[in-house]
This record gives sequence, structure tokens and C-alpha cells, in this order.
Amino acid sequence: MADAPKLVFAPFGAAKVPPKTGVLVVFCDEELKLGSATRQALKGAGDLIARAAASDRFTGKSGSALDIVAPTGLKAARLVVIGTGKEALKAQDLVKLGGAATGRIPANAAHATIIAEMPGGAMKPDQAAELALGATLRVYAFDRYKTKRKEGEEPPSRRDIVIAVGDVARTRKAWSRNEAVANGVVFARDLVNEPANVLYPEEFARRAGKLRNLAVSNDELDVTAMKKLGMHALLGVGQGSARASRVVVMRWKGGKSGADPVAFVGKGVCFDTGGISIKPAASMEDMKGDMAGAACVVGLIQALAARKAHVNAVGVIGLVENMPAGNAQRPGDIVKSMSGQTIEIINTDAEGRLVLADVLWYTAKRFEPKFMIDLATLTGAIIVSLGHEYAGLFANDDKLAERLTKMGEATGEKVWRMPLGPEYDKQIDSKFADVKNTGGRMGGAITAAQFLQRFVGKTPWAHLDIAGTGFASPQNDINKSWGSGFGVRLLDALVAEYYEK
Ligand code: BES
Ligand code: MN
Ligand code: ZN
Repeated sequence: MADAPKLVFAPFGAAKVPPKTGVLVVFCDEELKLGSATRQALKGAGDLIARAAASDRFTGKSGSALDIVAPTGLKAARLVVIGTGKEALKAQDLVKLGGAATGRIPANAAHATIIAEMPGGAMKPDQAAELALGATLRVYAFDRYKTKRKEGEEPPSRRDIVIAVGDVARTRKAWSRNEAVANGVVFARDLVNEPANVLYPEEFARRAGKLRNLAVSNDELDVTAMKKLGMHALLGVGQGSARASRVVVMRWKGGKSGADPVAFVGKGVCFDTGGISIKPAASMEDMKGDMAGAACVVGLIQALAARKAHVNAVGVIGLVENMPAGNAQRPGDIVKSMSGQTIEIINTDAEGRLVLADVLWYTAKRFEPKFMIDLATLTGAIIVSLGHEYAGLFANDDKLAERLTKMGEATGEKVWRMPLGPEYDKQIDSKFADVKNTGGRMGGAITAAQFLQRFVGKTPWAHLDIAGTGFASPQNDINKSWGSGFGVRLLDALVAEYYEK
């Protein structure tokens, strides 16, 4: 886990702000109204906020901030007032507010106290827990390879952020659920940010093995086991790499014994050079993140296990490295997938669908899941279609698609449904084999999904193309990291809302 400031809950009254370096963060509405515990904490500061607001044209608009340095009459070195707007705040708004508030704490502050109180009264425990989720996601930074620090900056581990709340015990309880999810997102981000010389398939598998501490069973398929199963689509992708391929199967059994599991499948291309159809040099370094789908699956299963979700869940990830080499796969090669279908390789850079073909088929056959959702940084074409805000959603099941769309809106990890259909099949029918691995430039994200559909049988299935959202996506109040951890919160919410009852 990355080095991060410590987050603690304390009662309103005990929220002490040490002199010199302490920052106090409070909330106000569009009338600049403050809650009573906040007024108590600001006693002595008189009409400071009103005067500062007037001079700074601060109106308390949602997410806006008023920054007062060396506030007269207060012990704190800095007072930050965050606007909450005038509308009632939903869970996701509170998460964002927690991120915005935390983002106003300068890195040279060793201590900060955020008073979790709205102008109308204390935040409820679950509201304070959403605030804390936003704060935790915001302070995440992947800095383990930095050996120098900017002058005056406190090491993250020496900073603490106190969230002052009305009911510490109940807030801690509400937080334990969100903390599990936050840790899942952090785990996913760490994996995506890690460079490929450190994180190759076997090392990825080792890190996924840490989930055993949470009673998640964890089996690995090595190359011999995959050969026995006939996973030649996946194995062909990895054959040019000095690093051996792996499949990892994680199982969390928190539901009724014998109940069909829900299944999550991830593309784990630890580095994608393109193979013999090699990529251009510009931005190739980003392809260390081509395992963001697999990272999400690991983070999600960790979150479900840590919060003891009442569900049986499986996570299956296909881990390979796509390299050009004397023994690498060539365009024109034909491989036989585990399903028995033969695939003609047209472009070795369309490797993700080859990995998923075998992992989806394996998951459907072995687990007969209630549904199967795969996540993959699959196509540049989805970025052309949707940019970096929405992930592409493809599904053979309308109910699953609707549920995902709803949870996307609720969590802010948004998905947009794209079409599938037999009309697209002609683009991927092959002259020499059953199917080919590219469908040309037109509708590239769709033909990729249409290819995957040939390997899911009748299982209710959805595919999330996260090429635009898994890494290098726009930074926001709750994410300043290159690897975003996209999908963990979305799928955790999907499970919680629909599959734990
Ligand atoms: N991993 C890439 C897709 C990608 C590109 C993800 C940019 C994130 C950012 C994938 O393996 C790939 O190379 N896809 C090709 C497919 C093509 C050869 C049919 C693409 O999108 O160009
Ligand atoms: Mn590729
Ligand atoms: Zn790829």
C-alpha cells in the first residue's frame, strides 16, 4: 500500500488543532451558515468568515473554497471553508465533498481537522463515512519510487487528518464498510501504477495471493495447466515473453453455500508492446496499465471479502505480457481456443480479446455463474467513441446492462451502453478459421466485444471497455492518480444493491 496520511475519527469537542501547522476545514451553505459545533470551534474568530467571504467573493457554492491563512482569534494556521451549495447532498456528492475538502489541505500541514457537520447539523454516520471515503481516495499518491521530497512537505505517513464527528462509534462502524472499498480501490491503483519490470504475470499473481489473508481462496493456473485445458488463445499472446503467463482464480464465499456465484473477469496484459504488430513509441509506456481490468477484479474481490459481502463471488484474471520475439506469435497464425473455436491472428496487437476468449470460456464452464462481467482496456476505439469519462458497456442481457448503468450514475463510475449484433459478425468472420481477431477500423470497440460474445455461451454477460477510464483519465476531486482503480466502486455497488439479499 502507498504511503498515505493517517485518517482518524474524533468527537466534535476533542477536535484539537495544534498551533503553527494545523488546518481547520469546515462546511457552510450558500447563506454562509455554519453548524453549531462549527460555530463552537470558531468561537473567537468573530465575523472572520463573513469578511473574508466578501473580499474573496466566496458564496458557498458546492465544492468552492475560502482559504484564510493565519485566522485571527483561532489557533489554527489556516482555516478552510468549503461550500456545500443549496441542494441536498447524495452519497456520491458527499464522497466528492470529502475529496474537495481534503484537497484543500496543503502538503506542508502535519495536522488537519475536518468538522463533519453540515449547516443543518452533524452528518449522519454513513454520511461521514462517505466523506471519509472521498478523503481517502483523494490523498492517495503513488510515490514509492520518489526518493526526494519538495522542501517543507511532510512525509505522508507523518500527516494526519482528523474527521470530527457527532458519533464516533457509529461513524467507525459505517466507515468499516467504506474502508474495505477504499482499500480495494487503492490496491487496484497500486497495481495499475506499478511499472512492468516490477509487475509481470507471476508477481501480479503473487500480489493477488495476498487476498488469502481475507479467506479468499486463490488458485493459479500455470502454463502446463493452461496447455492441458487447451487455452491456446491466451498462451499464444504470452509465448514471446520471457515471463510466464498465469491465470489466477479468486473465490469469496460469503453467500449461501451452493448458490451460483457472480463472476468477474479481467484482462491482465502486464505490458502490451503490440507484439510483432508493434506499437509506435509514443505513449507506449502507458501500456504498463493494460492490466487495469485484472487490477479492478483483484481490488473488487478484496473489497467484497473485507466487508464480508453476503455473496459468492469469483474473480478470474488472465495475466500475460505481449512481446515481440523470435518465438512470438505472428500475424496469420491460427490458434485453437479452449472453446474449440479456431482464431486467425490478423494483428498481434489485438491481444486482449485472445486472453479473454479463454478466460471467459473457462469461467462460464467451471462456475456456471449467475452472470459474468469482464473489464478490459480493450480498444483505442472506445476512447474515440466515449472519451475518458464513460466506460463502454456491451451486454447480452438488458437487466444486467440497466443495473450497471444505474450504479454507474450512483457511484460516478459511469458506463454507456454500446450495441452488439449479428450484423457485425461479417467483420470478424475469417477466411481460414472460425473467427479473426480484428474487424477493421470501423466500430472497433464493437467488433472487439462481438468477438468476446462468441466465447460466453448463454451466460448473462457484460463487457466493460475501460481503455479510456482505467488510466490516464481526467483527474477529479477523488482521483489524482494515473491508475484510477475504475470499476471497483461500480461493481461493489452493483453487488451490494442487487446480489446480496
Ligand atoms: N491495450 C490496447 C488498447 C488500448 C489503447 C488501451 C490505448 C488503452 C489505451 C489493445 O490491446 C490494442 O492494442 N487494441 C488495438 C486493437 C486493434 C489492433 C484492432 C487498438 O485499439 O488499436
Ligand atoms: Mn494491444
Ligand atoms: Zn492491450
